[in-house]
Amino acid sequence: MSAPWWQNAVVYQVYPRSFRDSDGDGVGDLRGLAAGLDHVARLGATALWLSPIYPSPLADFGYDVADHAAVDPAYGTLADFDDLVAAAWARGLRVLMDLVPCHTSIEHPWFAAHPERYVWAAGRAGGPPNNWIATFGGSAWTFDERRRLWYLHSFYPEQPDLDWRNPDVVEAMTGVVRFWRERGVDGFRIDAIDRLLKDPELRDDPPATAPFALPLGQEFGRLEHVHSTNGPDAGRALGALREAAGDGLLVGEVYLPADASAPYLEHLDAVFAFELFHAPWEAPALRAAIEACAALRRPGGADGAAWVLSNHDFSRLPDRFGRENVRAAAVLLLTLPGLAFVYQGEEIGQGDGPPGARAYDRAGRDPYRHPVQWEPEPLRAGFTTGEPWLAPVDPLERSIAAQAGAAGSLLELYRELIALRPRLGAGIELLDAPAGVLAYARGAHLVAVNTSARPLAVPARGEVVLESERGACADGLLAGGGGVVLLAGAGGGDPAHRGP
Ligand code: NOJ
Repeated sequence: MSAPWWQNAVVYQVYPRSFRDSDGDGVGDLRGLAAGLDHVARLGATALWLSPIYPSPLADFGYDVADHAAVDPAYGTLADFDDLVAAAWARGLRVLMDLVPCHTSIEHPWFAAHPERYVWAAGRAGGPPNNWIATFGGSAWTFDERRRLWYLHSFYPEQPDLDWRNPDVVEAMTGVVRFWRERGVDGFRIDAIDRLLKDPELRDDPPATAPFALPLGQEFGRLEHVHSTNGPDAGRALGALREAAGDGLLVGEVYLPADASAPYLEHLDAVFAFELFHAPWEAPALRAAIEACAALRRPGGADGAAWVLSNHDFSRLPDRFGRENVRAAAVLLLTLPGLAFVYQGEEIGQGDGPPGARAYDRAGRDPYRHPVQWEPEPLRAGFTTGEPWLAPVDPLERSIAAQAGAAGSLLELYRELIALRPRLGAGIELLDAPAGVLAYARGAHLVAVNTSARPLAVPARGEVVLESERGACADGLLAGGGGVVLLAGAGGGDPAHRGP
């Protein structure tokens, strides 16, 4: 059997509202996206993942879906979508949609016409049915005056949770998967999949006894989510999604540590490696996270981790790891085995934006969603001809136009790294290295990343195949904040030993 197309794929995450605007309304759209595809193709990406483009009242910026089988008019039409898919394929890019199966918008017609498709319960002692907390804070239950019952919402109150124990829900959502597959999409990133099913008895969550392995909202983090997430019968529902998706790629957003994510790989092709995403930029922590996530395997033994360091929900790389480390972070992300995800703007080093005059996301995630900086133009950055919904951050300092083709730019480093991926050997072997250095072998290649600020020794000599910055690795020393790929055993790291 030949390897699936995603085996070594780089998936480029598009946040459609902020990618590229074609009609001057200040909001990105599908035609704008199609016009920007050459950039993604030149980067060397294999596929696009589109954060939700469905009609939505925007309580959670698209993750509150009001119609699963349509395109929000702000983004275009289904015909524009078909054109986009054709344009992507013409450039060798696959297209992944964002499937949001755990909840809908409260304005989805189902909520009024089919309330039985959602999770309802009677209150307890005049309050909600149990102590479950919503991800962004507050009770996970809201009282509905009309039905005199409480409905569950793992996220905002405008996002009621679907009841996946109701066969109608399974049928409707698998119908959604089939709808988009028939339109040609190549797979899905599946939203919040660990929230698909909860304890059928709705038992209280116990208080947390230790900090969770991944960052959580303060109030949400006070409980241990043993009953409100990760239901024991999720496998059946996932099996139904898999059947509907056929051989499409399914990547799960399982917001759990790697060992707890492993069961999801029975039906999904990969799960995001959130332990690495949230690891501090320190060699021992990165090493431990890579070790845990690299152990994620599909039943046949294939790599199950989808490596990712940035998305629309968390602070961007320069702000989390430090701008001085973004080049080494790129070396790390793109030399790990299996799938890698790049968030739009990451490839030019875009950082978090300042708070705007108006806050859109109540959970404070606007700073991670500022427009892609296409041109060195201060007000619109080539993103729109109108008033951008969020202002560009620093287009005069970084833009795609300024970095494309510029020797030594971050964008060129991303391109080089992506081009190098097929040459790296299968699997990963973590190596002993001096404190502050993370090192691993990918077959004959050795990757080393220096998470400290001073030069440190790389654990082996070899021909320098790629450096995070020209001259980052010389005489067996790797500069602070540097990354390098060496071909072990081929010549010496010492320049005197290079060449004929
Ligand atoms: C995860 C998405 O990435 C996030 O943006 C959203 O708020 C929640 N899931 C709820 O759908």
